[in-house]
Amino acid sequence: KELAVGIDIGGTHTVFGLVDKLGNCLAQNRMYTKDFDTFSDFISTLSAKIKALEIPNQANYKVIGIGVGAPNADYINQTIENASNLSWEGILPLGDLLRKKFGLPVKVTNDANASAMAEMIYGGAIGMKNFMVLTLGTGLGSGIVVNNEIVYGHSGFAGEFGHIIARPDGRQCGCGRFGCLETYASATGIKRTVSKLLAKYSFKSELRGIPFDRMSAKKLADAAYHGDEIALESFEYTGKILGIALANVVAINNPEAIFLAGGLSKAGDLLLKPTQYHMEENLLSVYKGKTVLKVTSVNGNSGILGSAAMIWNLV
Ligand code: BGC
Ligand code: NA
Ligand code: ZN
Repeated sequence: KELAVGIDIGGTHTVFGLVDKLGNCLAQNRMYTKDFDTFSDFISTLSAKIKALEIPNQANYKVIGIGVGAPNADYINQTIENASNLSWEGILPLGDLLRKKFGLPVKVTNDANASAMAEMIYGGAIGMKNFMVLTLGTGLGSGIVVNNEIVYGHSGFAGEFGHIIARPDGRQCGCGRFGCLETYASATGIKRTVSKLLAKYSFKSELRGIPFDRMSAKKLADAAYHGDEIALESFEYTGKILGIALANVVAINNPEAIFLAGGLSKAGDLLLKPTQYHMEENLLSVYKGKTVLKVTSVNGNSGILGSAAMIWNLV
């Protein structure tokens, strides 16, 4: 049986697995992205963990290639360049290092592009020619599909939607600039909003006292379901900023649908409802009611599946 490796490098976790052509992930594992002094140390550990993956009841298989989705990936040079949320600076030779470790074909793309490919092949975008996927995790990533193709742009970096300026002179971003969309609309961004709201109001909240690193989309969603006002307001504020940004991008791309993926998307309607409301409020009339906003329907890790799909030449 032939299998492809799919790797999804995230700001916090890196997940990877062995995937068949139908999109079944037969074995997977994860590791922290941050525990390594150098990028080459990170790749060495990652490679060892990939080689150690075992498929239950499957002795005979052959890995035919490695697909990887990474933040700030340069599709053309197969590198990561000036990543906003990784600790290693400069240009990181991702494709070359993996090729040396495995002696197999390697394909590199942006992590959110990988999610968009998974949505196109295995998820809710089957049959759609124009759509977008946003990943809401440590940062905000976007994969943009126009006329059935991922948009790469002139130099391979199209779709850095997390770094459009959502608020002039706003929060400082990992990219060094101020007011980027991802400083508001991402798992990290909503946590920053919660911190601000907790400082602004003194009323009771079950979120008070939770250290920043322990706060999670899950805890926020639970608090919101309990009626916690800080949690509810944090979703409303995030949805407002994200919805306005989406109204702007709809005016550029006129997508059929926008899918939300990544940790924060698991909050479901808590995030979808305010985002949808503010998007619609701010749309030019010709677009109103015509862009579907929903949570990803890829079953499993879309970053792994989409990265592996590059090896199957499904995209
Ligand atoms: C990076 C993107 C990436 C996103 C999600 C952003 O900070 O600039 O390239 O897709 O985070 O990881
Ligand atoms: Na992208
Ligand atoms: Zn930024």
